[in-house]
Amino acid sequence: MLIDIIAGARPNFMKIAPIIEAINKAKSQGEDIEYRLIHTGQHYDRNMSGSFFEELNIPDPDINLEIGSGTQATQAGRIMMAYEAVLLDKPSDICMVVGDVTSTMACSIAAKKLGIKIAHIEGGIRSWDLTMPEEINRMVTDAITDYFFTTSEVANSNLKKEGHGEEKIFYVGNTMIDTLLKNQARLKKPTIWNDLGLEKKGYIVMTLHRPANVDEEQQLKSLMDEIIANSHDMPIIFPVHPRTAKMLKNLNIEASNLHYADPMGYLEFNYLVRDAFAVITDSGGITEETTVMGVPCMTLRDNTERPETITLGTNELVGTNPDNIKPFMDKLFSGNWKKGDIPYLWDGKTAGRIIEKTLVLMKK
Ligand code: UD1
Repeated sequence: MLIDIIAGARPNFMKIAPIIEAINKAKSQGEDIEYRLIHTGQHYDRNMSGSFFEELNIPDPDINLEIGSGTQATQAGRIMMAYEAVLLDKPSDICMVVGDVTSTMACSIAAKKLGIKIAHIEGGIRSWDLTMPEEINRMVTDAITDYFFTTSEVANSNLKKEGHGEEKIFYVGNTMIDTLLKNQARLKKPTIWNDLGLEKKGYIVMTLHRPANVDEEQQLKSLMDEIIANSHDMPIIFPVHPRTAKMLKNLNIEASNLHYADPMGYLEFNYLVRDAFAVITDSGGITEETTVMGVPCMTLRDNTERPETITLGTNELVGTNPDNIKPFMDKLFSGNWKKGDIPYLWDGKTAGRIIEKTLVLMKK
């Protein structure tokens, strides 16, 4: 059996690393299983892509489609054409996609049209917000997915409501958390720690990259002004995504406790998060990591496809209205933030369950 593993953008890499390891393990135990790692090239900078391969010991991709930047449709179109050519040359038995980026959707479409089975890791999650490109990617991918490997009960129930049968849905846990737990002891102090004299629980980590927050100057400025005004002068470390960097260039937002940084490697970023007083973000994946590490997290979005990070975890949905920031930051500094729990099966063993199940399904 040949599995194509698709990775395209930063949040994919930590999700595929344990899958590759689980495939190698199954192979060493005599299973008939091979993989081909396909990097679409949606993210291509070293600090958005290459560093993750090195730090997480992911082998070099077998094929890089090198599609680069572009509009949503340009990227999707280029990926479909390039991946279709790969499949026509040598078809795989199953196309395994993760998450919700453009590469996830585009490869699923190309493969499904050639009659190849689709497995979607992290299937079924929904923000119900169709202004987010990721929501469209999730819905399109799931509409043509054969096997759903899910991270939450809510995902299972979303899929059932959309008419997918129970025999296609497998609640396995979270491969992103496999990587986080495996690497706890390897997390690495970033140089910024000593440069700024940071102390445990004495700084805030911030990330922003969603179009709703960063594509419009006034919105980005208002959010940052509110965060700075309510930060009690605590250092704010802000690794800046390339999309956000383009916008910040014109804004010149400065504060004595605001420290910009380049996007960080996985081990350094999670070192910072683990010991942070709090995280302020508009990412989805980071809210899962803060949940597992028990770090208070404020999400600057109006919705989330990961509700368990709120109902069980340490995350709170603040919204995108800058006026909402003060009450949440006051709560943070009052020390009354909730303590969280960890969702079922986010235990570090998810990829093993996925490959075990895939072997059974493909033998049927
Ligand atoms: C993508 C994903 C999003 C994910 C995010 C994490 C989609 C629709 N969105 O959004 O779900 O949370 O990645 O990073 O797939 N750029 C660089 N260097 C790179 C990559 C991108 O400079 O290595 C620039 C691009 O030229 C572009 C901008 O960053 O101008 C945005 O990149 P893009 O891939 O379009 O989407 P993201 O906003 O990164």
